[in-house]
Amino acid sequence: MKIIKAQVAVIGAGPSGLLLGQLLAKQGISNIILEKVTGEYVLGRIRAGILEQGFVDLVREAGVVDRMVAEGEVHEGFNIAINGHCVRIDMKKLSDGDSVVCYGQVEITRDLMEARQAAGLSTYYEVEGVKLKNVTSDNPSVTYTHAGEKYELQCDYIAGCDGFHGVSRPTIPAELRIEHERIYPFGWLGVLSDTPPVSDELIYCKHQRGFALASMRSATRSRYYIQVPLSDRVEDWPDDAFWDELKKRLPPEAAARLVTGPSIEKSIAPLRSFICEPMQYGNLFLVGDAAHIVPPTGAKGLNLAASDVATLYKVLLRVYKEGDKECIKQYSEIALRRVWHGERFSWWMTNMLHNFDDMGSHDLEGATFARFMESELSYYLASQAGQKVIAEQYVGLPYEELAPLDTRS
Ligand code: APR
Ligand code: PHB
Repeated sequence: MKIIKAQVAVIGAGPSGLLLGQLLAKQGISNIILEKVTGEYVLGRIRAGILEQGFVDLVREAGVVDRMVAEGEVHEGFNIAINGHCVRIDMKKLSDGDSVVCYGQVEITRDLMEARQAAGLSTYYEVEGVKLKNVTSDNPSVTYTHAGEKYELQCDYIAGCDGFHGVSRPTIPAELRIEHERIYPFGWLGVLSDTPPVSDELIYCKHQRGFALASMRSATRSRYYIQVPLSDRVEDWPDDAFWDELKKRLPPEAAARLVTGPSIEKSIAPLRSFICEPMQYGNLFLVGDAAHIVPPTGAKGLNLAASDVATLYKVLLRVYKEGDKECIKQYSEIALRRVWHGERFSWWMTNMLHNFDDMGSHDLEGATFARFMESELSYYLASQAGQKVIAEQYVGLPYEELAPLDTRS
């Protein structure tokens, strides 16, 4: 067994692990990242790319913001269409000047990966058999196999950034964990295509035929989604069928502008709300998808991962710069407060924008639930106060600071 050491062991090289690793390294806090798959595989996962200001600021602090600033597009508003009628949510006006940046998650991950490599920081890809040991002691460690050799990584803290299917969350004993879950009775069929987007701002469409979303990656690359039954498979949706259905759900002006083309990626994603409490066990911290999943309707997945990273970064800075080990107890509570807000927003947007007609929800028959949600959405869209509620959450709620250092002792 080869023994290696770092102050922080990071499990998973998705956006959470890479961002945390970069921030810590900039502060001189040593860290090693362990990743199960290859770097190329990580970059093959297509995901949303709407970034809150807090996320952008964090990436700036990590020193990896240049390409995002050059290529990302600032969005000051987005649209919600009900049965073809579009309402623009003016985020900038309604949230006191905030906006979001549209920049693909794959690009952020690539930027972080390249920065880590350029700085000569250690990431072990294709590790096997990762096990977390003694996480409640002062000497936690992680054992794994890499290139046929067995390793033990000895550390002070472990950041579980290993996604929903990782090993970190199950390390917390089941009797200490509460898991909240809602699986929605439909999925999103997504298509990426090298065609100009129908609009320079996103359009979330509530339609009798089902939800649709018009999004983009650049001026020449579009990303579209439609709500489909969970039983549908990608093979059921040749490109032409997808474009026909999308056109029916978009508002007429947007449908008229739709440019179609061959899909370069097509996949169906299930929708899930999931929260694990607590997000901490001894010296193990859960970060991002390892602790929570949101349905993609509010574009909050990556942004909630970023606020976890921000909180853990503040905790570890205080531990290593000010010697305050007690502050680690604040992590789970602070992270979860913001997670619950993001979860509620994503759940609310999902309920209001999708078609639950045949399905029902909350013990209500489908048609009744649908009418409640239709009323809810039109009520919020009809006033500036209502639109502000949506805008403030879409641009992202503020990050919470740690409680001040107790200087009495
Ligand atoms: N050992 C090492 N690495 C692992 C293990 C393991 N046992 N299990 C999983 N991993 C790796 C995965 O291969 C993956 O690369 O952990 C990484 C987790 O990355 P993500 O799933 O992208 O999670 P996270 O970094 O928290 O990113 C959150 O991703 O799903 C979206 O909406 C979400 O945008 C948000 C973002
Ligand atoms: C995307 O562009 O993939 C995207 C944008 C906004 C969402 C979900 C996905 O809410």
